Amino acid sequence: MRKKIIAGNWKMFKDLVEANDFFKQLIEKLPDTEAEVMIAPSFTNLWHSFQITRDYPIEIIAQNMHEENLGAYTGEVSAEMLKSVGVQRVILGHSERRMFFGECDEQLNLKVECAVNNEMNFIFCVGEEMEDRNSNNHFKVIKRQLDIGLFEMYPEDWKHAVIAYEPVWAIGTGETARPEQAQEMHHFIRKTIADVYGNEIAENVSILYGGSVKPDNAKQLFQQPDIDGALVGGASLKVSSFIKIIQAI
Ligand code: PGA
Repeated sequence: MRKKIIAGNWKMFKDLVEANDFFKQLIEKLPDTEAEVMIAPSFTNLWHSFQITRDYPIEIIAQNMHEENLGAYTGEVSAEMLKSVGVQRVILGHSERRMFFGECDEQLNLKVECAVNNEMNFIFCVGEEMEDRNSNNHFKVIKRQLDIGLFEMYPEDWKHAVIAYEPVWAIGTGETARPEQAQEMHHFIRKTIADVYGNEIAENVSILYGGSVKPDNAKQLFQQPDIDGALVGGASLKVSSFIKIIQAI
């Protein structure tokens, strides 16, 4: 059975003191849930966040990593380095990485390969822009992102993968995909995986929705049969709203 996951992506927010405060409160108030709870702080907070949460069901994950194992890549962080501070999972291909840092599908293919080779789990993000949707190209865009980014994996590599569908037009805009719009795309993603790898793999991969998930829209999204949780940006920065989203699942 596939896992339910609520993952918070803090982006470039929260320094060490703020991260520490957040986790102290989260540990105190964490609801009983069948969902896996994850937070992706900045690189500088990973080690401390891992230490403070290690006895609780909270997984500390990274927001990005480089596709090489080591080398002269100033400012970059490798899978090995992440693992050495307790990180077992990384977000790959977030639309902000694609948009502001020029990450393309081909580079993401290499990052996925690197993750798999290092036994690193990952949340692979896909999503279309508004103009893709307006021109009815949204399915094509998502299929290409999956094809190039993921479909060179061996079947056994899928145990490392979670997918996040994050329509770019819904990220940080307050505009959420309607539950039926999100469900339609999640179903398409699962079917596209099934066409290549078969039903068993497709049925077992968790597909998260991301893009302005809030306490007041989470429940309706989670009621959709192909939505297995959320990748939450803004609403993961406050313990109160993050907890409400966990409760909604
Ligand atoms: P948002 O961000 O919830 O603030 O829209 C989601 C994300 O970027 O993962």
